[in-house]
Amino acid sequence: MESAQRPSVIWLQFQECTGCSESLLRAEHPTIDKLILDVISLDYHETLFAAAGHQAEAARKAAMKAHKGKYVLVVEGAIPVKEKGIYCKIGGQTAVDMLKECAADAAAVIAIGSCASWGGMPATDPNPTGASSVAEILGKTVVTIPGCPPNPYNFLATVVHFLTFKSLPAVDQLGRPLFAYSRLIHESCERRAHFDAGRFAIEFGDEGHRKGFCLYKLGCKGPETYANCPTIGFNDLGEVSWPVGCGHPCIGCTEKGVGFTKPIHQLA
Ligand code: SF4
Ligand code: SF4
Ligand code: F3S
Repeated sequence: MESAQRPSVIWLQFQECTGCSESLLRAEHPTIDKLILDVISLDYHETLFAAAGHQAEAARKAAMKAHKGKYVLVVEGAIPVKEKGIYCKIGGQTAVDMLKECAADAAAVIAIGSCASWGGMPATDPNPTGASSVAEILGKTVVTIPGCPPNPYNFLATVVHFLTFKSLPAVDQLGRPLFAYSRLIHESCERRAHFDAGRFAIEFGDEGHRKGFCLYKLGCKGPETYANCPTIGFNDLGEVSWPVGCGHPCIGCTEKGVGFTKPIHQLA
């Protein structure tokens, strides 16, 4: 398919660790090469771009001009607002300005990961840079794909929905697509029978932990976290596992105020 016929995607990266992009790189249906060569035209992505420096910024501006009103804007990372946004600049432009510039003529805006969705890790108290979400900067609801990192299939399904129906999927009050974030993890967890029977791991490595008992007493946030992690495995875990499946309690990374808005030692 010619590049011109594939929808243009501009992917911005601000205060982030690139884990969201890394998560997408590990998707298998489709693989990243299939995605960017056959499905979309990835016209700007700092990590995956061959171009660098002025060349990269020129490519972004060219894509925005050529696909005005039609491109999909994906944002990874939070946006710092303290001290006039100086804590994150790309090509001399603050993240705040770049986001506003790119969003102005986008057909759709998708915030990928918990950083872009509501500040995530960079916004951890005391949030020294004023890390903010995409929605806060733009002053409107955007589609969010939270998770740290997020499940790439939730992102891919959202993009495919947009390409197929020319509209974004139905979302909840936090902008999360309902198809992926409408059920509690606790409802589909493979350890649920142990929870119901009162069988818990008490310490990492104890007999209950080795036997796959429920992780609630190790701080699992599955009962208050909406996400499809138990039903669609992802990331380095291949497509067959997920944090709780690997023996780690869910930390609620898809939930605002449950995951990385507190120092990690306060999460349990
Ligand atoms: Fe990294 Fe998590 Fe932020 Fe994604 S949401 S950029 S994985 S810290
Ligand atoms: Fe619920 Fe977590 Fe126990 Fe699974 S491990 S049953 S999500 S409390
Ligand atoms: Fe995050 Fe919990 Fe899923 S930590 S990846 S929401 S299991």
